[in-house]
Amino acid sequence: MKDELCKVIDNRHVGGKLYLLELHAPSIAREVKAGQFVMIRVFEGLEPLGRRAFAVGDVRGENILIFYDLIGRGTQILSKVKREESLRVLGPLGKGLFKTGGERHLLIGGGVGLAGLSLLGKELRALGRQVLFVYGGRSLEHLGMESWLREEGFDYVLFTEDGSRGRKGLVTDVLEEFDTSWVVHACGPKGMLRAIRNKKSGHRVFLSLESRMACGWGVCLGCVVRTPQGYKRVCYEGPVFEAEEVLL
Ligand SMILES: Cc1cc2nc3c(=O)[nH]c(=O)nc-3n(C[C@H](O)[C@H](O)[C@H](O)COP(=O)(O)OP(=O)(O)OC[C@H]3O[C@@H](n4cnc5c(N)ncnc54)[C@H](O)[C@@H]3O)c2cc1C
Ligand code: FES
Repeated sequence: MKDELCKVIDNRHVGGKLYLLELHAPSIAREVKAGQFVMIRVFEGLEPLGRRAFAVGDVRGENILIFYDLIGRGTQILSKVKREESLRVLGPLGKGLFKTGGERHLLIGGGVGLAGLSLLGKELRALGRQVLFVYGGRSLEHLGMESWLREEGFDYVLFTEDGSRGRKGLVTDVLEEFDTSWVVHACGPKGMLRAIRNKKSGHRVFLSLESRMACGWGVCLGCVVRTPQGYKRVCYEGPVFEAEEVLL
């Protein structure tokens, strides 16, 4: 884990609420594994929750790519950061990673949750596994990462709730179409993860969780999730858990 001062290479609006931030972060780019995340300092001074958590969406040489949605104060400030400015970035964080065993992998991303799976897709492909992304959102403008999927040459299926792009419905509708030889990996809103967990489809399922994080490295206990064995820290034991390991 490093706390790097990273130069902003690019920070642009992609579409809808989605932005793409590219940072020069050589140490993090070298070390990061699929499933890990970084904490970016968006406030200086005494702001207690000065950092925000983001998945590393991709690595290009010494640069990391972060896909982020505009949500509140922190991401508003982030969206105004200009090229050549610098941001302090802590990472890579998280010890609970996706498992890459098995020949066929279904990667289900809800909205910007796809950014939590994109590196995994590349890692699995490098291992020679079959990879299919399932990407869903409320409507067309919530599918801003489709261009990334296309440019990277992945096979993918799109879902929108209003039918404005791809199949009409929810990404969770897809599970019964795939036999249990497919390993399922999912990242997105809690409701989506809960639905996948509760479907009891017989698949092996890994979930990448989000939780409000202050420190990001196991100290503040602000991010805990309930498990059958008590509480676990999403930032430290996670963010990826096997579905049976957590109570959502
Ligand atoms: C491990 C992990 C990976 C993430 N990866 C991404 C990503 O790749 N792209 C992306 O757009 N978002 C990602 N998020 C969510 C992102 O951290 C929040 O959207 C962001 O913190 C919102 O900050 P804000 O100040 O704009 O929003 P506000 O709502 O103003 O934030 C107020 C507080 O709530 C926290 N918060 C709000 N929403 C979330 C959330 N969904 N998860 C965790 N904390 C939240 C903030 O950190 C802050 O402390 C991830 C979260 C986690 C935990
Ligand atoms: S965010 Fe502090 S323990 Fe997880």
